[in-house]
Formats: sequence, structure tokens, C-alpha cells
Amino acid sequence: MTGRPSYYVTTPIYYVNDKPHIGHAYTTLAADVLARFKRLDGHDVMFLTGTDEHGQKIERSAEKAGIDPQTFCDQVSTKFKDLTGAMNFSNNQFIRTTEDRHKKSVQHLWSALEEKGFIYEGRYSGWYSVRDEAFYAESELVDSENGDKLAPTGAPVEWVEEPSYFFKLSAFEDKLLELYDSNPEFVMPKSRLNEVKSFVKGGLDDLSISRTTFTWGVPVPGADGHIMYVWIDALANYLTALGYPDEQGTDYQNFWPADVHIVGKDILRFHAVYWPAFLMAADLPLPKRVFAHGWWTNEGQKISKSLGNVIDPYELIETYGLDATRFFMLREVPFGNDGDFSRRAFVLRCNADLSNGLGNLSQRTLSMIHKNCDGQLPEPGELTSEDNLLLNNIEQTLQLVRDHMDRQAFHLALDAIWTQASAADSYISVQEPWKLKKTDPARMNTVLYVLAEAIRQIAILAQPVMPDSAAKILSQMRVADRGFDQLGKAGRLAPGITIPKPEGVFPRFELPEEDSEQ
Ligand code: MSP
Repeated sequence: MTGRPSYYVTTPIYYVNDKPHIGHAYTTLAADVLARFKRLDGHDVMFLTGTDEHGQKIERSAEKAGIDPQTFCDQVSTKFKDLTGAMNFSNNQFIRTTEDRHKKSVQHLWSALEEKGFIYEGRYSGWYSVRDEAFYAESELVDSENGDKLAPTGAPVEWVEEPSYFFKLSAFEDKLLELYDSNPEFVMPKSRLNEVKSFVKGGLDDLSISRTTFTWGVPVPGADGHIMYVWIDALANYLTALGYPDEQGTDYQNFWPADVHIVGKDILRFHAVYWPAFLMAADLPLPKRVFAHGWWTNEGQKISKSLGNVIDPYELIETYGLDATRFFMLREVPFGNDGDFSRRAFVLRCNADLSNGLGNLSQRTLSMIHKNCDGQLPEPGELTSEDNLLLNNIEQTLQLVRDHMDRQAFHLALDAIWTQASAADSYISVQEPWKLKKTDPARMNTVLYVLAEAIRQIAILAQPVMPDSAAKILSQMRVADRGFDQLGKAGRLAPGITIPKPEGVFPRFELPEEDSEQ
């Protein structure tokens, strides 16, 4: 225990059937920004991501690749782990469901459900989608053009008949509805809560939670030939990482229940219906929130391997740099909505907010100080009401950003910070420090000091989204202490520090060809 408030944020664990793409990067980015924000804001943070390695989908992918499943998982999981480095994700752990600690944890959870009488043996016959790793009721299926039945997600389904253990999900209908009513922020955004509610109100069937027609999974304790349904296996990762089933003296004690599970809208049912039902059945506390984000399209088209339009996060980083990529994804689209990834929107947004915005503001200010003040931060005179207004507004931005972050409203948090960058820009235009050099050098010193101080605070606030770029700006001003406790007067810059000739932090991008020709 550290005495600081704790914060536990998770991402879904990713299937290792394919290499990572922008969808995976997006989910983890959101969690990373929350984790970084909370650390800077004085919390003891646990940020978990990892890979989901069992089930029929992975078994078939390994078979197709002609490699044994474990070697296949090792290879693909490494690609997800590498992405965390490339995207500068600050996860505390990277969990893999093929680890022994996880098998032990999920088997314990299974036994707890069994002991409490929520598991029974039966036979499953019904529809299953390997792509979604989900069971579907006949009534949910849709007919494809060629007459095949499809899952509502468009994934193919197959008829399955096999001995299986079932979880008494039907016993949790009322309890789940009570949960959604008593804690309306358990599922966010609100539109998604309504979706979940109507699914539960439609009636819950018991859930098949073991499979017997293939072998790539965690064995069901004491039941030969049964392996666990991949979703009960996968969801338990959130507990495994904390040391469950050991509850005392472990991270479990400190971090469970999770503050927020970040998930995509496609996997909300598993997190907002099955997961709380499993936890209630095992008598474990429930996570505080499940936030479902939307999906990206690429230049207006659904992203799919068959269309060949999958967006590779490495290509984005290579073309635009890491922090612009991180910024765009969270600034452009309200978290929770679907969004379109367009290169034109990317270039316009990043040029306006980064190179012409914060970049230009800090470049201009630091250059003026370097040139006009002998490379030293000048001593300010008495602050005017305009100076105080700018600095006070920035100081108050932390609370706004905090509120937005607590609702996963990243675009609003960024908007609040960039509003201050625009305010500093207007302040320069009004104060015209370049004219003051001759007319009133003492006032010029004050204006430049106030601007440097504004930039320091804006850069501190921008760190969760753009850690490298904010660090570059702060290093140019010799700022070592960068926590949110340094905002406001607490961390004021010391006059006299050396300000070297600044280097540009944000490059300007060219519009894609078809646009620039117009
Ligand atoms: N293994 C399960 C999760 C188990 S969690 C206990 C899984 N994995 S996944 O690899 O298929 O997907 C993980 C995440 O990527 C989901 O949150 C999904 O929404 C997200 N995305 C996949 N494609 C996406 C887009 N095109 N856009 C945004 N996110 C998308 O599901």
C-alpha cells in the first residue's frame, strides 16, 4: 500500500490470430492516456494489457500457419508486446493467457462458480461463430445473400453439438438490471448502456462455458475432455494480473475492483453482461465501469483484411511521428463514437493544433527569450490583470481535464488544454512582445516570462497524450518536476535559467496529393 489512491485500468487482451492494427492501438492508447494522467495526478496506477491466446480461432490460425499453437502464440504475442514499445504505452504488465499463473487463476474462478452452484453439466446444440468466439441464438442470426446464416456481426456461424458445462446466466437477469439501474455509469457511453439493458431485458439463456470438440484451452478442473470457453478464460485475466486467487497482500487487495475496463463496442456484451454475472456468482466485487469505444473506418470504408485497407500503426508512426498519431486518434473523434480515419483530417488537425498551435507558440516564445534576453529566462515585473487572467485560467484547467478524463472524454480534455494554447496565442498578438524590446524592455520581460510559464503548464497537462513532445518542450525550459502538483504557482519557473535556441517539436505535414492539387 502506498497511501496514494489506486487506479486500475485495463484493455481487452488481444487475439493472437493476426498482427496488431489501428483498432488495437486505439484501445490501448486510451488506457495509456488514463494511466499516465492518473500517475501524474498522484495515483498509484495499475495498467494492464496483454494477449488472449486460447480458443478455436487461435487453434485454427496456428493450424493454417502449420505451427503448433504455443509457438504460434509466442510469435504473435511478441508483435503485440512490440507495439506497446512502439506506441510508448506505459502498461505495468503484459499478461498472456497461456501463462501458468493465469491457468491457476481461471481454474480457481471456475471452482468458485461450481462450489456456489452456478455450473451444471449438459449438452450444447446451437450456433457458434469462431471469428467472434461467441454463441448466438437462432433469432439473432441474419441471412446472407447466398442464403448462409451469419452472426449479427457478419461473421460466419457453424452448428455445434457437444457435451458442455453451463453457467446459470439466467439467474442473473434481475441482478444485472438492478446493477445498471443503481449504477448508470457502469456502462458508458449511455447509448451503450441502453443497448445492454435491452439485451438483458430480452431474456438471458444459460451460457455454455466449456468445449469438448477441440483442445486448445485451459482444462476444466476435474472434467476430462472439457476445456474452458475462451471468454471465461479471457475475462479472468483482469483478476490473474493482480495475483488472484491470492487476495491478501497482493495487488488484488490494492487494485480490485478495476476502475475502468476499456473495450470496443463489439465486445461489450461479454464485459457488461457475462463478466459482472461471473463476478456476482463468485461473490467478488464488480468493476466500476466498462467503457465501450467506437470503431474506425478508413477513408469512409469499413476496415477489413479482405478489402486490404487495414491501417498499420507502424506506418502511421513512420509517416507522422508517434505523438501526432496519438494526438489525432484521441482529439479527432469523441471517445465512444465511430470515427473515420482520413489522411486529410489528420494533416489538417495536426497542422492546426500542433505545428501551428502549441509548436509555434513554444517555438516563438523560446526563440524570443533566447534572442532578446541573452538566452536566459527574464525576471518578470509586477503581473497585470491580463497576465494573471491567462495564468489563472491555465491553472484552473486541471480540474476541467480531470472531470473529462474521469468520463473518458479525451477529446474534451484535449480541447480544454488547447483552448489555453489559443489563449496564449491571443495574448502574444495583443501584447506584441517583439515591439516592446525598444519601447518597454521591462514589460517585454514580464510578457515573455508569463508566456514561458503558460507553456510550461500546458506542456505538463499535455504529457499523457504526447509524452515525448511534452518532454522536449519541458526540457528546453529545464523543467525537471513534471507532476500535476507542479501546476500553478507551485512549480513556477525560476528567472535566470538558461533557455537554449529551441528546436522545432512538431513538423508540418503536406496534404495528401489529391487535396493539394485542388
Ligand atoms: N480477445 C478479445 C478480447 C478479450 S478481453 C477479455 C478480442 N480481441 S480482438 O483482438 O479481436 O479485439 C480487441 C479490440 O480491438 C476490441 O476492443 C475491438 O473493438 C478493437 N478493434 C478491432 N478493430 C477495430 C476498429 N476498426 N476500430 C476500433 N477498434 C477496433 O476481442
